Amino acid sequence: MCKLKILTTIEELSNALSTEVGSRSLGFVPTMGALHEGHLRLISNSVRDNTFTICSIFINPIQFNNQDDFSNYPKTLKSDLEKLEISKCDYAFVPGVETIYPENFKPKHYELGSLENILEGAYRPNHFQGVCAVVHRFLDLINPSVMYLGRKDYQQCKVIQKMMQLVNLDSKIKLCLVETVRSNDGLALSSRNMRLSPMGKKKAVFLSQCLQTAKETISKNLGSNMDFSAIQTALISTLKNNGFESVDYFEFVNENFVPIKTLSCAKSNLIVLTAATIESIRLIDNIEIKLYERTN
Ligand code: PAF
Repeated sequence: MCKLKILTTIEELSNALSTEVGSRSLGFVPTMGALHEGHLRLISNSVRDNTFTICSIFINPIQFNNQDDFSNYPKTLKSDLEKLEISKCDYAFVPGVETIYPENFKPKHYELGSLENILEGAYRPNHFQGVCAVVHRFLDLINPSVMYLGRKDYQQCKVIQKMMQLVNLDSKIKLCLVETVRSNDGLALSSRNMRLSPMGKKKAVFLSQCLQTAKETISKNLGSNMDFSAIQTALISTLKNNGFESVDYFEFVNENFVPIKTLSCAKSNLIVLTAATIESIRLIDNIEIKLYERTN
């Protein structure tokens, strides 16, 4: 028996939410489809923690700054729905563009500060405004108890957290960040990996290996005033010598997303983030380096 309910209109969504979900806990996983194990981990966390789980599948046109990327984004709705069904997700919300952005929809500007100007923000102008607009719209429509996001898109997680504070949703909706799921060789799962050739997939593994090398090098130099520029340059060369056409960045930031240049400036845990292109496909990944134990 099919348990997954497919909702496409706001009316269907609000009926299901008011008559079936009511005041019980609802976990929400926003996606653009092309579901892989990374998404399914978010779903399984939500199914474990909540009475109901809803997953949105919507390729958000306004977050793409590159038309080719938008047109080439994998569309695999049939298998996505099968995966959601197997994962015991209760609802798939699959709206059309006119449902999310009706004619009278006025996009808001979110004051994201420096988060919007560095790394992904610098390379993808307006991308985060588009992400905030769609996630805000979903949160208004769905009003979940918890939203699940993958840490692979670390900057996106920070941006969404900031947007939720700006629109006062942070006290109403819990944000749950879930660890990146990787294939056995370390490659972070991503819908974009589907477009890589078998050889491209093998070479793409260098991305996570370089992050790992950065982490190991820093861990060996704890207590020193190590300057990150040398390891940055060396690892960018490694990527370029191993099939990557370009590397947009290989950067170190602290937990507040402030770039950090030397180890002695790191007053919180570090996150190393990279974005690089292979076979014309831009991949991102990151790794956390724990320098301090969290107290909360
Ligand atoms: O990470 C994604 O897939 C998208 O950016 C999101 C959060 C679903 C918004 O469209």
